[in-house]
Amino acid sequence: MLEVLSHPLITHKLTQMRKKETGTKDFRENLDEIAELMAYEVCRDLPTQPIDIESPMGPCTGYELSKEVVIVPILRAGIGLLDGIRRLVPTAKVGFIGLYRDEETLEPHEYFAKFPRDLDKSVVLVVDPMLATGGSAVAALDMIKQRGAKNIKLVCLVGVPEGVKAVQKAHPDVDIYLAAMDDGLNEIGYIVPGLGDAGDRIFGTK
Ligand code: PRP
Ligand code: URA
Repeated sequence: MLEVLSHPLITHKLTQMRKKETGTKDFRENLDEIAELMAYEVCRDLPTQPIDIESPMGPCTGYELSKEVVIVPILRAGIGLLDGIRRLVPTAKVGFIGLYRDEETLEPHEYFAKFPRDLDKSVVLVVDPMLATGGSAVAALDMIKQRGAKNIKLVCLVGVPEGVKAVQKAHPDVDIYLAAMDDGLNEIGYIVPGLGDAGDRIFGTK
C-alpha cells in the first residue's frame, strides 16, 4: 500500500522546506510539524481494544491502543521526524538505525542499531524524510525484520517512483506513506526537486 498524504497544511509546510533560502531552524520546525500531521493519518488503523472505565457520570466502555508503537528513525535525518510523531504517540518506544549512503555507490552502510524488545508484537514506524533509491529504507526494513518486526509502516516525506518500487519489491508487506511523490533522481542520486541533503539541512552541516 502506498499513500501520498496530500493536505494543504502539509503541502504549504513542505514548500517552505523546499525553498533553498530556508535556514536550519525553519527547515527543522516545518519538518517537525509535518511529522505530527502525518502521524495522525499513519496511525489511523492502529488496533484498539475495549476497556471498562468509569467517567464522572458513570461506567462506560472506552478504547485504548492495544499494541505498542515503536518509532525507528533512520539516522541522521530520520531524527527530524521523531518528536512530531511522539507528541501524538507519547508512549511510543524508540529504536535507532544508523545508515549512511556512500556518495559514490549510493549503497547504504550500517553504523548503529539499537531496538526496544518485543518488536514482533509492536507496530513499527520506520521514519526518514527521503526515499531516493530506496537502498537505505530496504536495508532498514531488512534489519528490523531480522529482529522479528512484522507489522511495519515506512513514513517518508519525499519519495520518488524508483525508491517506492525498490521498497515494494523487497518488502511488499510494508505500507508506505509519503507527503509528496517527486519527479525522480538526478545523476548523483538526489531527489528532484526534493529538499537537497535533508541531514545537512536539519543539522546545519556543510
Ligand atoms: C539520506 C536520507 C536517507 C537516504 C535516502 O541519508 O536521510 O536515509 O539518504 O537515500 P536512498 O533512498 O538512496 O538510500 P544520508 O545517507 O545522506 O545520511 P544522513 O541522514 O546522515 O545525512
Ligand atoms: N538523501 C537526501 O538527503 N536527499 C536526497 O535528495 C536524496 C538522498
